[in-house]
Amino acid sequence: MKADVLREKFLTFFESKGHTRISGSSLIPENDPTVLFTTAGMHPLVPYLLGEVHPGGKRLCDCQKCIRTGDIDEVGDASHLTFFEMLGNWSLGDYFKEEAIKNSFEFLTSKDYLGFDKSKLYFTVFEGNENVARDDEAIEIWKSLGVADDHIFPLPMKDNWWGPAGQTGPCGPDTEMFVDTGKDACGADCRPGCNCGKYFEVWNDVFMQYEKTDDGSYVPLKQHNVDTGMGVERTIAMLQGRKNVFETELFAPIIEAITKASGKDMNESEETLRCFRVIADHVRSSVFILGDPTGVVPGNLGQGYVLRRLIRRAVRYGKNLGLEGTFLAPIAEVVIDNYKHVYSELEQNRQKIVTELVTEEEKFEKTLHRGMAELEKILGKLKEHDQKVVSGRVAFRLYDTYGFPLEFTEEICVEHEMSVDRPTFDKAFEKHKEMSKKGAEKTFKGGLADDSSATKSLHTATHLLHRALKNVLGEHVNQKGSNITPERLRFDFSHTEKMTPEQIKAVEDMVNEVIDKKLDITMEMMTLEEAREAGATALFDGKYGEQVKVYTIGEFSKEVCGGPHVDNTSELGRFKIKKEGSSSAGVRRIRAVLIND
Ligand code: ALA
Repeated sequence: MKADVLREKFLTFFESKGHTRISGSSLIPENDPTVLFTTAGMHPLVPYLLGEVHPGGKRLCDCQKCIRTGDIDEVGDASHLTFFEMLGNWSLGDYFKEEAIKNSFEFLTSKDYLGFDKSKLYFTVFEGNENVARDDEAIEIWKSLGVADDHIFPLPMKDNWWGPAGQTGPCGPDTEMFVDTGKDACGADCRPGCNCGKYFEVWNDVFMQYEKTDDGSYVPLKQHNVDTGMGVERTIAMLQGRKNVFETELFAPIIEAITKASGKDMNESEETLRCFRVIADHVRSSVFILGDPTGVVPGNLGQGYVLRRLIRRAVRYGKNLGLEGTFLAPIAEVVIDNYKHVYSELEQNRQKIVTELVTEEEKFEKTLHRGMAELEKILGKLKEHDQKVVSGRVAFRLYDTYGFPLEFTEEICVEHEMSVDRPTFDKAFEKHKEMSKKGAEKTFKGGLADDSSATKSLHTATHLLHRALKNVLGEHVNQKGSNITPERLRFDFSHTEKMTPEQIKAVEDMVNEVIDKKLDITMEMMTLEEAREAGATALFDGKYGEQVKVYTIGEFSKEVCGGPHVDNTSELGRFKIKKEGSSSAGVRRIRAVLIND
């Protein structure tokens, strides 16, 4: 079964179970400062998991583009990827464990759907701890479906709990579904959840029934939700009888392009195989980030930094294969061709994707040369003192600052009859890995949009600002990005010139006038086409007939938006623009606050 068929089967299966098919969202979360990227299908749905009404109803399903870089060092094994597609179904306070598990089992085993043999499937459930009891209910449901005892594994929180670990928010036990690849077990302890590649996790059903509060306790949520995620790449690998995700049609043409460019056989050695896989994964992720309508480009901060790291890493691994000069563009074109029928934004942004990749490769080329100069200087000094070992600290600096892989540094050292102090490098590297993992986890798990009244007020103010900018500067003004914390809003919009002080004042005054009118904010649900006809500003292209929410503020503003918003503009306080500047070519950025006295 190919990915195209799997996506469609999944969505039609859940439609047949009363779910509304919704469009996946952008890879860059809107209005959510807590995460850099959409890391799971639930991400854009957080407000609804917390109780906000969704226009599609209480049962939803979709296919969502996701980026996760927390496991970037694992990429190259059989299953880890930095970009992946997640199929998901949700119950927003509707059905719970029994229906969720039964649906999962039916979809996995029914001959009309995936048709997996029951003997190949394994399941893990939450084993319980001092706060929450073992998930016996889930165990009993799996058993009632005919699953054997020795195919069910109760595991601790680190394996079978999903939600904002260490932070507040909705969370709960989960049950994960694995397929046995047929590979030999790596040892007596090998079990589902082991990373050796024997068991592939393909699906996760999360039962969001708790909210972790500030004092660390778990209180029952007012609504019981189900949040599931099925990995497209892993599932089709299993359906196609592969032992890794790279042998599927989603990767084969990309691998072929790398073979063509490098002239190497990927099976030459384990290291060569890893290089192929890292390049394929990183180019694919970079293409999807660059192809996203939100306009992220390589940089030193936030999403731009992650993108830069992915591109440079691909280049470094390319060097190991002997690829010189700029080589990413033809591989990227293959990625675009392979996915454009599903993600039309890639075709629309083809030129931009290719140009940005080449520019970044050229920039990195320069850094590489500076790194080389630095290494040669160090080698010269060591020689003067008759020393033969480059310290791990220096090798790590070359890795961290100039993007030199250790093998790269080691090879050059060998040419000079020297070596690298490996243990100290490993120590520095482990520390760095730990730190970046922590950072990634924090970003990843903290992925909960905040619905505090401060954030909601700034969200409503963002709609007023958007409209006021259109009124003052012209209808060409369109939202290019929005990021809200409880302290401030940040709004990017299309406009070429710097705003004059008069224009800034006019916008501020207009927003404050609306605030003073104490207008109600009302919400209606309609199709996207009806919303456009009603004159609502709509930022995205959804699928035809898709239900959306339209927020109206008096006669002043009408926008398609997920919410939430405050009820009346009188809740906002004084609106003040703190800063107006350039964000990127043709895009301006405003930071503004609400002052409550
Ligand atoms: N949100 C859950 C996950 O990402 C389904 O595994």
